[in-house]
Amino acid sequence: MLIRKVWATVLPKSWGLLLGLLAGTIVVVASCSPASAPEVTVGADGTTDAVLVTGREVFMDRCVACHDADGSGNTIGPRLNNGRLLDVYPTLEAAAVVVAEGKNRMPGFSSSLTPTEINAVLRYISEVL
Ligand code: HEC
Repeated sequence: MLIRKVWATVLPKSWGLLLGLLAGTIVVVASCSPASAPEVTVGADGTTDAVLVTGREVFMDRCVACHDADGSGNTIGPRLNNGRLLDVYPTLEAAAVVVAEGKNRMPGFSSSLTPTEINAVLRYISEVL
């Protein structure tokens, strides 16, 4: 009997608490999920370029923290989108040296990304962003 009484008073409260926690979690998750980098579009031949898809994955994993999801830059790193990359560097190979070796506050990625991945992310930046 006593137990039932206790449950009757505790249960509604704990449901309220649970619902509150659930709602709170949803709000936090929704506000923390970063904007996603632009998708690679399907080409005229009906296929997507696998290199660009890899490049997008590398970009989302390793670059968005400092260059933003759309490459527009933030308080840490400069803008890379809208042709800016090829305004600054004559070729993607020249830009790849910066990504591999780093520059000032930009870390080098030569030990964590392969040359193929660096090439892929730079193609994504110059062709999709
Ligand atoms: C920790 C922050 C950070 C991360 C992560 C980062 N960058 Fe940078 N990036 C910078 C900063 C800061 C600069 C500016 C360096 C300078 O010129 O002093 C920069 C510059 C660059 C430049 C040269 C742009 C220019 O205008 O000269 C390229 C290209 C670049 N980043 C690409 C990338 C790529 C690709 C990735 C992901 C693989 C990446 N960055 C990840 C901070 C970062």
